[in-house]
Amino acid sequence: KRRILTGITTSGTPHLGNYVGAIRPAIAASRRADAQSFYFLADYHALIKTGDPARVQQSTLEIAASWLACGLDPDSVHFYRQSDIPEIPELTWFLTCVTAKGLLNRAHAYKAAVDQNSAAGEDADAGITAGLYMYPVLMAADILIFNAHEVPVGRDQIQHIEMARDIGQRFNHLYGGDYFTLPEARIEENVATLPGTDGRKMSKSYDNTIPLWLPAKDLRKAILGIVTDSRAPGEPKDPDSSNIFAIYQAFASAEETAAMRRAFADGIAWGEAKQALFERIDAELAPMRERYEALVAEPERIEKLLLDGARRVREIGTPLLRRLRTAVGIRPLD
Ligand code: TYM
Repeated sequence: KRRILTGITTSGTPHLGNYVGAIRPAIAASRRADAQSFYFLADYHALIKTGDPARVQQSTLEIAASWLACGLDPDSVHFYRQSDIPEIPELTWFLTCVTAKGLLNRAHAYKAAVDQNSAAGEDADAGITAGLYMYPVLMAADILIFNAHEVPVGRDQIQHIEMARDIGQRFNHLYGGDYFTLPEARIEENVATLPGTDGRKMSKSYDNTIPLWLPAKDLRKAILGIVTDSRAPGEPKDPDSSNIFAIYQAFASAEETAAMRRAFADGIAWGEAKQALFERIDAELAPMRERYEALVAEPERIEKLLLDGARRVREIGTPLLRRLRTAVGIRPLD
């Protein structure tokens, strides 16, 4: 079987980018007959981004309920919370010790933080934690521990998956065995980077997200607020530089997308294009929104599913860690 694995950081409310970049393709992949899926809540990763415990807890509940509302079947998918798997931080240390520091110096998230400091005239590493620096190693452990073949993600995660390959390969080479499968990113081209309301990548850090489960009225308002150029109704518009079009094609069929492309050439008014975008997204989300509301109201049920999922995946992780302990020359735990 092909192992498919992906995670979402529990540092905020899930948004449309998480849905089209990860949740929707991962659920579709989990239904393939050849798939064995591992979908998890990356709450250790959340600590890199926030020091607010209530936010981490709330986000964990919201993201878990989102996966379920979108159709994750907990009987056929391994569905768990990262922090319930003590083998992950243990593996992180083994991997840390084979990871070149120079590799981590090149990680986009770390480099962006350094660049921001330099631009502000600050010391390069000011305010940067070792957690941010080590982020790619923790993520490599998430992926390698279950020997994932495929990782469905948005484009912003490609570098991390390449690093997981590098790190896994280095360990295999150093200890002379096929301990780890080398994972590949799976990216859907029409949704690789969903823009946010300001046109930059939709991201919790830019405060430009459209939350996944807004009530229809607020969803419409958020979509009306997406920036456009100032072309008037009747003037032809360029779909390839338009945020509205980029988001539309992430939700529409090929035929609908082609029709919208023609409407842009024919000078559709921005208000009209936004209304069509709202209707398209709402049609897809409305049935799941109701399920979501019911699910978030039952945290105990979600908790039970997650603990059960953790128990099942640990049956896979524990034997691997025993093997790795022996490989590196330390005593396997009893
Ligand atoms: P995170 O929580 O930032 O995002 C979760 C998933 O959503 C995708 N995504 C997007 N896709 C398209 N357009 C966007 N604007 C957009 N914004 C977010 C991300 O690409 C991602 O797939 N480090 C990861 C979580 C993680 C993980 C892992 C992922 C931890 N361990 C192991 C895969 C495998 C992160 O912070 O994603």
